[in-house]
Amino acid sequence: MRKKFFIYGIPLTVTFLLLYFYQIIGPVIPLIFVVLFVIGFIDASQTKHTILRNFPLIGHVRYLFESISPEIQQYFIERSTDGKPFSRNERSLIYQRSKNVDSSLPFGTQMHLNQSNYEGIKHSMFPAKVNKELPRVLVGGPDCKKPYSASLLNISAMSFGSLSENAIKSLNLGAQKGNFYHNTGEGGLTEFHLQGGDIAWQIGTGYFGCRDKEGNFDADKFSEKANLPAVKMIEIKLSQGAKPGHGGVLPAQKNTLEISKIRGVEPFITIYSPPRHSAFNDYKGLVEFIAQLRHLSNGKPIGFKLCIGETSEFEKLCNEMIQQNCYPDFITVDGAEGGTGSAPPEFSDGVGMPFEPALIFVNKTLVNFGIRNKIRIICSGKIISGYSILRAIALGADICNSARGFMFSLGCIQALRCNNNECPTGIATQNKMLMKGLVVREKFDRVYHYHKNTLHSANELLAATGKNNYSEVDISIFMRGDEFSKLANHYFPDNLEI
Ligand SMILES: Cc1cc2nc3c(=O)[nH]c(=O)nc-3n(C[C@H](O)[C@H](O)[C@H](O)COP(=O)(O)O)c2cc1C
Repeated sequence: MRKKFFIYGIPLTVTFLLLYFYQIIGPVIPLIFVVLFVIGFIDASQTKHTILRNFPLIGHVRYLFESISPEIQQYFIERSTDGKPFSRNERSLIYQRSKNVDSSLPFGTQMHLNQSNYEGIKHSMFPAKVNKELPRVLVGGPDCKKPYSASLLNISAMSFGSLSENAIKSLNLGAQKGNFYHNTGEGGLTEFHLQGGDIAWQIGTGYFGCRDKEGNFDADKFSEKANLPAVKMIEIKLSQGAKPGHGGVLPAQKNTLEISKIRGVEPFITIYSPPRHSAFNDYKGLVEFIAQLRHLSNGKPIGFKLCIGETSEFEKLCNEMIQQNCYPDFITVDGAEGGTGSAPPEFSDGVGMPFEPALIFVNKTLVNFGIRNKIRIICSGKIISGYSILRAIALGADICNSARGFMFSLGCIQALRCNNNECPTGIATQNKMLMKGLVVREKFDRVYHYHKNTLHSANELLAATGKNNYSEVDISIFMRGDEFSKLANHYFPDNLEI
């Protein structure tokens, strides 16, 4: 193709230049040919990209299609029930609830129900009355002086840096209007988080907002922020599902001057928070750190977030809590299917325990150690609907967090560009031009409505099971498809053997 480019390109360009020279044609066509020839010549001479070198000029078409492949997939190929990580149906549900418009489904389900992997709620013949009030849960164990009444659904950790200023402001204002909390993410507590909504302040291994010059934990800086009235809870981040054992990543494109100042790091380079904490390095140290933060914050709820990996480590940690008689007020369990702004694919695809077994394990372990009543379990991992909230509670959670659900409520279209600063909806970018498209006064109401309508749906489902209180929910309210085959076996043992 390279050869052909020169064989046809040179004579054609020269011919049109001559035609122009003899005033047979105007300047436009020769100019187009000259520009195309120059681009092709550069392509053919460069040594970085084989496709462009071998296919000068037309090689760009491949790059163009590659850059818009998520959109092509989404607009032309994807069906309503597929699309990853979230299907079109799932996304539409969130958009409708955020816009506070009808989210009902016409004509019946599109799911295949009569299958062994079907999962459904066992409704009652005598449904309870739907509670109009949105559910709340008190967080604060025996040593907590300032317990916090949290909503059942809240905004999961996402930093300023990962998300834009307008996205953070909208989330916080939505949280204020709906009376739920907004987790800062490990990027630190910024002025954009302080719009009036309740805050769960997350502290990662980078200690952004409470670090000294060497990047170590600074107790004085921590104390100053932890005692702000907006800060209701403090979360130590051990790991997150999308990249457990890796630490945070802020891509260079998103590390602007403003963010680097807030975080106390060099601008325009990729910032990796280390995978491990420097304030502690074993079970004993972690439990002591919890006690230290509780003391420095004058008794606010302190917890930690993790994705479960080696299960025996969690058991050892429980032993240590009992040994020191010191317990976190909450533990946030993040499933390996969790989202992120940026992560190495090996970590996203192949490290950590998924949401369901992790939640069951943590709940069971705390019960077995006899300490479940002292600790609230918060969970995150694709919780986007009333159904997923009820399911999380049935598996052992007390409180749910959602990250990507709230991103959709802001207008995220799953463009999968959170890591390159090109998010077209102005949510996961620091590009001011893109961010301007996200108008805070419009979007914060969507955050509010999404939260309210989702919890209302959870209340409706709870009532359908005939129960009045979320504390009555356990796994017995769910049925699985394989129960149908057992039923069939029971009634037709001869001809329906499986
Ligand atoms: C853009 C983005 C940024 C995130 N940043 C953080 C973070 O700073 N700290 C953290 O613990 N988790 C972070 N997470 C993970 C979420 O808090 C959450 O645990 C995970 O996405 C699962 O929830 P989801 O399925 O509702 O998204 C981030 C997720 C996303 C999508």
